Amino acid sequence: MLDEIYPVIDYGKGVYLFDMEGKRYLDAASGAVTANIGHGVTEIMEAMLEQAKKVSFIYRSQFTSEAAEKLAKKISEMLPGELNWSFFVNSGSEATETAMKMAIQYWQERGIQTKTKILSRWVSYHGITMGALSMSGHPSRRARFVPLLADFPVIHPPYCYRCPYNLEAPACNYLCAHELETSIKRIGPEQIAAFIAEPVIGAAGGAIAPPKDYFKHIKKICEKHNILFIADEVMTGFGRTGKILACEHWGVVPDIVAFGKGMGAGFAPIAAAVASDKVMEPILAGSKSVMSGHTLSANPQSCAVSLAVLDYLEKNEILKEVDTKGVYLKNQLEKLKSQFPFIGDVRGKGLLLGIELVLDRNTKTPFPRKFTVTAKIIELAKEKGLLVYPAGAGIDGVNGDAIIISPPLTITKQEMEELVCLLKTTFTTFSNEINAGTDGVH
Ligand SMILES: Cc1ncc(COP(=O)(O)O)c(C=O)c1O
Repeated sequence: MLDEIYPVIDYGKGVYLFDMEGKRYLDAASGAVTANIGHGVTEIMEAMLEQAKKVSFIYRSQFTSEAAEKLAKKISEMLPGELNWSFFVNSGSEATETAMKMAIQYWQERGIQTKTKILSRWVSYHGITMGALSMSGHPSRRARFVPLLADFPVIHPPYCYRCPYNLEAPACNYLCAHELETSIKRIGPEQIAAFIAEPVIGAAGGAIAPPKDYFKHIKKICEKHNILFIADEVMTGFGRTGKILACEHWGVVPDIVAFGKGMGAGFAPIAAAVASDKVMEPILAGSKSVMSGHTLSANPQSCAVSLAVLDYLEKNEILKEVDTKGVYLKNQLEKLKSQFPFIGDVRGKGLLLGIELVLDRNTKTPFPRKFTVTAKIIELAKEKGLLVYPAGAGIDGVNGDAIIISPPLTITKQEMEELVCLLKTTFTTFSNEINAGTDGVH
């Protein structure tokens, strides 16, 4: 906020950040679900320096670099299926926007000019640039720009806590996935290039993980109607849920994937759109150039950092423990639910966990908007030295409160205990304020 005075951070180490006043913060948000291997990691600093000693910038239409080539090779080895073609960019928004452009170009190079729409879901966030925002089902972030945006969000999310059909999976027969088929028929598959979705909904929904077979249905519908499937793994990719690709949990391989955040783990701005052989074949046989890119795309400095981050994940077998840590932390959050009636739902996958906050647990009634409960919790937690991430919630994407708990994947059991303790103190203060009526909620 322009009127806010932010603490100045002096340094970070592991899961902690320290400000200039000497105050310590447990970073249970990994910044913005980004610092996946924690702060101040020596190996990454060394890789940065080593690359800087050689060259920090070259331009991608003139040269390539060892760092970029090695990173592309590494990513293709780490990913399932034929996901072999990396296009490096600098942010998650650029990655989803490039994925969108690749999908449209794929059909054009096959001689089909009409397939230009990218369908998406409500309660989603794919980035802030105009193409990425067009795909985002995030009403408050769209609001100012609506006349300039395409109407890409068309279907409900798999939001089981607030199922639009009032059903439960799997008895629901995955009606929310089948909405995609209805929308495709209404719009016409000849107009649609791709469907994009986050495997676990992040900022827009507060870590909403889908029921088991959801993505199998989605992929089948896409294939049936000749529509590419883009997975937005900007938040989930490279280990956040315990797998390199969150889609792997459900046995689904996308045609194009967008990565960001954890790819550089906050040490450098780097992201990527990664396409399969199938998507690249007509482009390689046609124009031989993907119509996207930025001055700093594939710059050696960021590529060297990302390569060091991915090596670090592998060498230290970080992903092996994500599931166990996630289960432990989720259980602790469930325990808090039994103590605080305003916790409506605890959800998520791996170390991408969400808590939805409600005025009335029985009716799932959200807190009134004007009480800005998410912002209050974030602030109270920060005062106590705990960083958690704000998220949207609610079926309309407007009337709901949620926070995301997403500590570095390297967090220890003792640090998780401290996290839960700080969160409990935060909720206790919030509860006291509610009861005293000092926060204006009652
Ligand atoms: C799923 C998802 N996609 C895209 C983005 C946009 O990434 P960036 O903020 O790096 O542009 C975000 C950011 O939060 C995200 O969570």
